[in-house]
Amino acid sequence: MAEQYPIGKNQEENYRYMVGTAKAFIEGEKSLIANLANLSSIIDLYVDTINWAGFYLMEDGELVLGPFQGKPACIRIPLGKGVCGTAAAEGRTIIVEDVHQFPGHIACDAASNSEIVIPISKNGKVIGVLDIDSPIKNRFGIKEKEALEKVVQVLEASL
Ligand code: SME
Repeated sequence: MAEQYPIGKNQEENYRYMVGTAKAFIEGEKSLIANLANLSSIIDLYVDTINWAGFYLMEDGELVLGPFQGKPACIRIPLGKGVCGTAAAEGRTIIVEDVHQFPGHIACDAASNSEIVIPISKNGKVIGVLDIDSPIKNRFGIKEKEALEKVVQVLEASL
């Protein structure tokens, strides 16, 4: 099975492997829980220096914790609150260089210092978010945004 998860020479190569592996697992599979569980694992395999990667799904107007890799996390996040609730409310990717400077940041793991949150949409409506945390400040930039948005697009195509 090792060749199924190739490891690249650098982070950029790993992002290409991440998107390819995501497609291989998600395309043709309809189970949302299975797909979110596999995606959290694939992201954890291919994005280095992160301490949390997972999903929150909209339920009755708030975000509720879904499949993830990392320490146990906050279960419910109101729309508009924290980085996740803000990304969901605004329907756009949010990159936070230093979570301690983000007003209303919700600290689930004290090790987190930077964060990226990408909304997931179905028929033009946000149905959840992908959330990734890193212990390193300013961990997430344009390369991460592009690669992780591609992963979310693979997921959206399966919804
Ligand atoms: N920090 C997030 C909460 C979720 S945890 O990071 C897993 C936020 O401010 O929305």
